[in-house]
Amino acid sequence: MYRSHPVEDLYSCPSGTTVTVAGWVQTVRDHGGLLFIELRDRSGRIQCVIDQSANATLEGVAKDLRDEWVISVHGVVGLRPEGTVNASIPGGDREIRVTGLTILNSAKTPPFPVGTSEEVSESLRLTYRYLDMRSPRLLEALKFRSELTTLIRNHMTSHHFWEIETPLLTRSTPEGARDFLVPSRLEKGSFYALPQSPQLFKQLLMVGGLERYFQIARCFRDEDLRADRQPEFTQVDIEASFLTRDTFLGIMEALFCDIFRTFKNETLSRPFMRLTYEEAMERYGSDKPDLRFDLPIVDISDLAKKTTFSVFTSVTSSEKGTVRGLRYPKGAGLSRKEVEDLTAWTQSQGAKGLAWIKVESSGLSSPILKFFPEEIRSSLRERMSAEEGDLLVFVADEHKTALKVLGALRTHIAQRADLIDRTKTSLFWVVDFPLLEWNPDEKRHEAVHHPFTAPHPDDLGVLSDTPEKTRSLAYDLVLNGTEVGGGSIRNHELELQRRIFSLIGLTEEEAERRFGFLLEALSFGAPPHGGMAIGLDRLAMILLGRDSIRDVMAFPKTQKGACLLTEAPAPVDTVQLRDLGLKLS
Ligand code: AMO
Ligand code: AMP
Repeated sequence: MYRSHPVEDLYSCPSGTTVTVAGWVQTVRDHGGLLFIELRDRSGRIQCVIDQSANATLEGVAKDLRDEWVISVHGVVGLRPEGTVNASIPGGDREIRVTGLTILNSAKTPPFPVGTSEEVSESLRLTYRYLDMRSPRLLEALKFRSELTTLIRNHMTSHHFWEIETPLLTRSTPEGARDFLVPSRLEKGSFYALPQSPQLFKQLLMVGGLERYFQIARCFRDEDLRADRQPEFTQVDIEASFLTRDTFLGIMEALFCDIFRTFKNETLSRPFMRLTYEEAMERYGSDKPDLRFDLPIVDISDLAKKTTFSVFTSVTSSEKGTVRGLRYPKGAGLSRKEVEDLTAWTQSQGAKGLAWIKVESSGLSSPILKFFPEEIRSSLRERMSAEEGDLLVFVADEHKTALKVLGALRTHIAQRADLIDRTKTSLFWVVDFPLLEWNPDEKRHEAVHHPFTAPHPDDLGVLSDTPEKTRSLAYDLVLNGTEVGGGSIRNHELELQRRIFSLIGLTEEEAERRFGFLLEALSFGAPPHGGMAIGLDRLAMILLGRDSIRDVMAFPKTQKGACLLTEAPAPVDTVQLRDLGLKLS
């Protein structure tokens, strides 16, 4: 027998219990007469003591031990003598008095200290991910992820969703990224695409009458990577039939309440807040604002018009121009250099400049104040809800640019001024996204979410004339400023789906070629349906308070899409290429 108990069970078992544990050697220390081994398994650590005078043979075996060797230890649990108790660690009050020890395997000297909190470069950790996993930090993340997935599975199945797998070797499912392609050997010159999401299959499941589906689904997107993006990631993918948008959102809210109750001991109030896309953009300059802090963007265009500041008046005289401001709480204390840096940062986000006014005890102060008539100054103060000590900052630009820049500046200021209350949860829906947006490069409309999303029923009248003014039945779930999920009610009627394809510039032939199977399925009695997908990696990252989704994945890829452990992607043999009918250029 290798083991009778996982280590953590020893923390509560009675003194005198005979046990066998197995794991890795964290450290060995020889205290002349007594040999201490710290043994580690995935559940915890325990001190094992060998009394050398009592057991010379054991001592002989134990003296060979090195860090990370794999051993099995037999002995009796006892309380540590007074003065040697370490109350700061679990099980620090006890030890195993060893009567037997078996070496199960030796180990090379690890390239970095294993299981300690010592800083190690990420690339080294990724190259030896299996050693990195022996550290409490990654272990905790992987355990948490397993618990999270289990809870989601239980929750969904108890709400009558069936877990169904969909193919990975498939056709392109457009979600806005590039596809990863897999060449076919049997049909040379043809390719499978790895799914960007199970979108089309889950809709086909609804046509098939499955009614409620979910899947912990692997998705593949060939796009530029960031801290919250991986080329291969996991969605909790969900679809249901015969539900209105609001009923569906209610089901998702119940899932998130369950998640937060279980893992955060937090009761979320329902229904979750719903911001329209337009409100989110106008007030926060983002479709995924972090509302753990307020700082709304304020429209001062009408006041700006009444100044003689040409930067403002030239912008407000154009129809698309606007002037908007933000408060920088306690920002009046910023030095000249700091304000210059803030201006440069704002310019790096696309602004032409940053106008500013300090709110000091003696009143407003700014080089541009001379352009502001007296009555404008007090209205401005009021409009901005300015408080003494604030720095008021303004961007004059075309509407879209001004909001985008101020949205980014809002977060930048919150970080700099330490306004983010990390004990708070900000979780809400953004609804009524536009259905389509104009792509000036390709000179055509494209779907904001994906082309299977239904238009808002109130906007069907404007769909043909002003497509970009049509709202959709898409929704995103935003957690602490990150989009953790998104979905929509779909086009279940064939004609409407055809119309959307045509609006995004697909000819009938192209629509048929790419999505013929979907169009045909829709003609066989598709029920009204909709759903969403939750980014499981992102959700785990936020719930654990980690900065990168790599920290919550067992084998993540680098920013360049490489797996440092297996050295994928890698060249292949010419024979393999020949079998596939491929030649490299
Ligand atoms: P969407 O493209 O919005 O919707 O994706 C859903 C969620 O998946 C997560 N996500 C990612 N996580 C890590 N790395 C990535 N590269 C990545 N890309 C997306 C995000 C996102 O909110 N089929 C639709 C869903 C639907 O309509 O039902 C879809 O995939 O958290
Ligand atoms: P200037 O008249 O260009 O010297 O600019 C005067 C101030 O206005 C400087 O602080 C600039 O950073 C700022 N500024 C310039 N352009 C803009 C703009 N489009 N929006 C806001 N402030 C601006």
